[in-house]
Amino acid sequence: ELLSKPIRYGYMNGIALTVLISQLPKLFGFSIDGGGPVRDVTQIISAVVRHAHALAREVDLKPDEWMAAIQFLTRVGQTCDDKRQEFILLSDTLGISMLVVRLEQARRSRDTKGATEATVQGPFYWPGAPELPLGSDIAKGMPGEPAHYSGRVSDTHGQPIANCCVDVWSGDGEGVYDMQKEGDAGMQLRARFYTDAEGRYRFWSIKPTFYPVPDDGPVGDMLRAMGRHPNRPGHIHMMVYGDGYVPLTTHLFASDSPYLDSDAVFGVRDSLIVRYEKHAPGMAPDGRAMDKPFHSASYDFALAAA
Ligand code: BEZ
Ligand code: FE
Repeated sequence: ELLSKPIRYGYMNGIALTVLISQLPKLFGFSIDGGGPVRDVTQIISAVVRHAHALAREVDLKPDEWMAAIQFLTRVGQTCDDKRQEFILLSDTLGISMLVVRLEQARRSRDTKGATEATVQGPFYWPGAPELPLGSDIAKGMPGEPAHYSGRVSDTHGQPIANCCVDVWSGDGEGVYDMQKEGDAGMQLRARFYTDAEGRYRFWSIKPTFYPVPDDGPVGDMLRAMGRHPNRPGHIHMMVYGDGYVPLTTHLFASDSPYLDSDAVFGVRDSLIVRYEKHAPGMAPDGRAMDKPFHSASYDFALAAA
């Protein structure tokens, strides 16, 4: 009798919820593999409950606000299909994807000191890009200003890593990825290069421009409601991997791009910002004769031992 009826029911609901949560792994038969020992999902969901309750108390959540949040999450789910993953976009724009990337990079390396920083993979990675000889141009016929990329891949002690894969992808010079184009454009602006005996890589592509993350769904509505823009600064994606090293998924960001200080998915690290040097038409660093202005960008990657 110390408890009023609603509180009693609330209390019983709480117990029922706790029992239900503790049974989830058995009900659904899943556990979460965090890369180390297999973790019990109960531990993680219990933390979700703890933080969600603290959140509701902190903002003094009203029933209609909670219903609006449920409807928002419902729309996020309904926007997903085999080409679009709105939940990942939500995670990206809330900064959770980037946090998870940073936690993983720190966890996986015995020694991350000196390793190139990782950033989000994004939704436009397409495995199996063509393997091309060093120096190839992957931007033929694409809109955009030509850019020559070069550098070296080494370990964290500066020793070159030969035969290391540099898997590259980007949007075109208007910020559009092949996967976003109408019809079946096939792979564009993607390739895998293997470093030479000195760990060097080089190729031609375009200088990337800023572009918006897909903002025609509920995540776009959320950004607008918060007064946030949907743009990412100009960047080129790289996945760098070799035997015995922790694979690196990262980008290079153009130092003169807008939105470097307000990336919609929080992916920018100062160490990944690169200057694109602009050149008048003429002889490029690799001897190629260029009949229009072009850029060159140089960046050295360091991989941590696995
Ligand atoms: C991208 O860089 O490709 C990207 C990352 C996160 C969300 C949308 C796009
Ligand atoms: Fe991108």
